[in-house]
Amino acid sequence: ARTAVVIPAAGRGVRLGPGAPKALRALNGTPMLIHAVRAMAASRAVSLVVVVAPPDGAPEVKSMLDAHALPERTDFLVVPGGESRQESVKLGLDALPPDFDIVLVHDAARPLVPVDTVDAVIEAVRDGAPAVVPALPLADTVKEVEPARTPGAPEPVVATPDRARLRAVQTPQGFDRATLVRAHETVTDDVTDDASMVEQLGPTVVVVPGHEEAFKVTRPLDLVLAEAVLARRRL
Ligand code: C5P
Repeated sequence: ARTAVVIPAAGRGVRLGPGAPKALRALNGTPMLIHAVRAMAASRAVSLVVVVAPPDGAPEVKSMLDAHALPERTDFLVVPGGESRQESVKLGLDALPPDFDIVLVHDAARPLVPVDTVDAVIEAVRDGAPAVVPALPLADTVKEVEPARTPGAPEPVVATPDRARLRAVQTPQGFDRATLVRAHETVTDDVTDDASMVEQLGPTVVVVPGHEEAFKVTRPLDLVLAEAVLARRRL
């Protein structure tokens, strides 16, 4: 079974502050997307990486990939993305050649995921799971609230789910290709990850251990943390 990775990298990264699209911003001098591509290509099981670029940014992303050293045994494709993450992933799936039966979807915004996590996800799909997500237990207690109508107003708490049963989900998420394609054809609700589309379709999604360093670079403080992790790796 051959494995391909789709990397949605078409988001603007508004929460990170003003500047270039998030995936194209530098971490220690190298674009976040290049770190993410290298993290996927680090797995010997991965033979193709499809990068989904901002809608008008495919040529720029293509030359960015060409300008950086990437493993020879991996092929790379760049396709333009869409308005939502979901649409961007769909456009990446549409570009996959026929001979791949395992597909990983990995956020460009998680540039530092260790190769062991990538391999663990692939392994679980190879072992027969239709959908696999890496995830971690939560440090914080989580409350469900009734969202305030006025931003900033106090919000009534509705429930406190048992923390021991909650997991914070990361990427890469791994899929049997046919299952993921069917999920993208069938589910039209807005979702924040691909596995939840498979959940709506029916097949059981399983969780494998995630990793602290697979955190999502979302806000300015995350950039500081990401550069500190890179500095520690160089030691
Ligand atoms: O916004 P969020 O952090 O959830 O985005 C997760 C990933 O989805 C990022 O890598 C982002 O570039 C990507 N994305 C995309 N197309 C969009 C919106 C987000 O590829 N239209």
